[in-house]
Amino acid sequence: RRGECTAVRCAAAPETAATTRVKRNENFGKLQAGYLFPEIARRRREHEAKYPDKQIISLGIGDTTEPIPSFISDAMAKAAAGLGTREGYSGYGAEQGRPDLREAIAKAFYPGLRKADEIFVSDGAKCDAGRLQMMFGVDRTVAVQDPSYPVYVDTTVIQGSTGNYNPASEGFDGIEYMLCNADNGFFPDLSKVPPTDLIFFCSPNNPTGAAATRQQLQELVDFAKRNGSIIVYDAAYALYCEEPDCPKTIYEIPGADEVALEVNSFSKYAGFTGVRLGWTVVPDALRFSDGTPVKTDFNRIMTTCFNGASSIAQAGALACLEPEGYSQMMNVISFYKENAAILRKTFIDMGFSVYGGINSPYVWVGFPGQKSWDVFADILEKCHIVTTPGSGFGPGGEGFVRASAFSTRENVNEAVSRFQAVFGSS
Ligand code: MLT
Repeated sequence: RRGECTAVRCAAAPETAATTRVKRNENFGKLQAGYLFPEIARRRREHEAKYPDKQIISLGIGDTTEPIPSFISDAMAKAAAGLGTREGYSGYGAEQGRPDLREAIAKAFYPGLRKADEIFVSDGAKCDAGRLQMMFGVDRTVAVQDPSYPVYVDTTVIQGSTGNYNPASEGFDGIEYMLCNADNGFFPDLSKVPPTDLIFFCSPNNPTGAAATRQQLQELVDFAKRNGSIIVYDAAYALYCEEPDCPKTIYEIPGADEVALEVNSFSKYAGFTGVRLGWTVVPDALRFSDGTPVKTDFNRIMTTCFNGASSIAQAGALACLEPEGYSQMMNVISFYKENAAILRKTFIDMGFSVYGGINSPYVWVGFPGQKSWDVFADILEKCHIVTTPGSGFGPGGEGFVRASAFSTRENVNEAVSRFQAVFGSS
């Protein structure tokens, strides 16, 4: 017997695993590998199995290591304890987030620029990127910086808005890859970019660490306006900006409210990678071609697919925005920025071409002529250090690796010694 068919289903042939009648979303078949960071974790595990006695240092995924500052963690502990009392208990909250938190975010990050009811509190910028895809739907075109945070490309592929992977271009047909490299100051030559519906843009950039200037962002906003595009602006590293010409939000740019929404998060500011608390800003002035406010549809998505961020996480976010919490949070950021400066200097002193690490926790190191997965493997083998291969962020990342500053100081110092021992004389 090779399996049995009835009117509604075919049972699997006995020699194969059981299947359902449900056809796989064929877009998953277009993806080239697993999501970048689990793939790196898999290689790390293999390395651990090979060298059980070696202490592996991770400068790979940008995952925070430092404890959440006490003012903030105390506020969350209090909120959690309150849930165990009749007076402190609360169930569902507003899907858009606590009104006082929306006010506090508007005041802290967008003073005079955005209103509280344009802020949607969520469980993180990555999750919002997925929900935005759902809102925009399949039938639209997309441009991304190349290299870029892989979530923008992978969610676009999964959604079905692209063609197949094209081995020749090392990208997906139907996505415009806006090359950002040292030659163009990591800002795309917009005169070469065809109009698209959406433009994903991250500044300070993950992975290159480059921060767009005010003038560059004005160019981007003008470009979007000319083409009728919407910019999805990822500002998740904005508080790492230290140079004066590094806008902390796209809304510092005149006209941005008509062409841009912005995502952000406390993950890299207050160590909330596990706590989960982010937000998306959707200005009233941002409209679809038929005049519908984008905010109306994003509100529909949030009320339909999301039940509001965790009340404990929101209490933590509110504490981040009180004066004491804010200053403790900025200390955490300073700590990671010092790590970035140490790593940046190490690679510069060894003669590498180094970018980022000033307005960003990421240091982007050039290995010209080499495949970045080979460099990744070489560093892992010789230094027992996990980095992130540049090509994992897109074809424009080939020949680079990214070193993340999210690590303990002890590990950064140890990593520096190992890098110097292996690459110092090369
Ligand atoms: C990264 O390493 O690029 C980030 O940790 C990814 C993320 O924020 O999801």
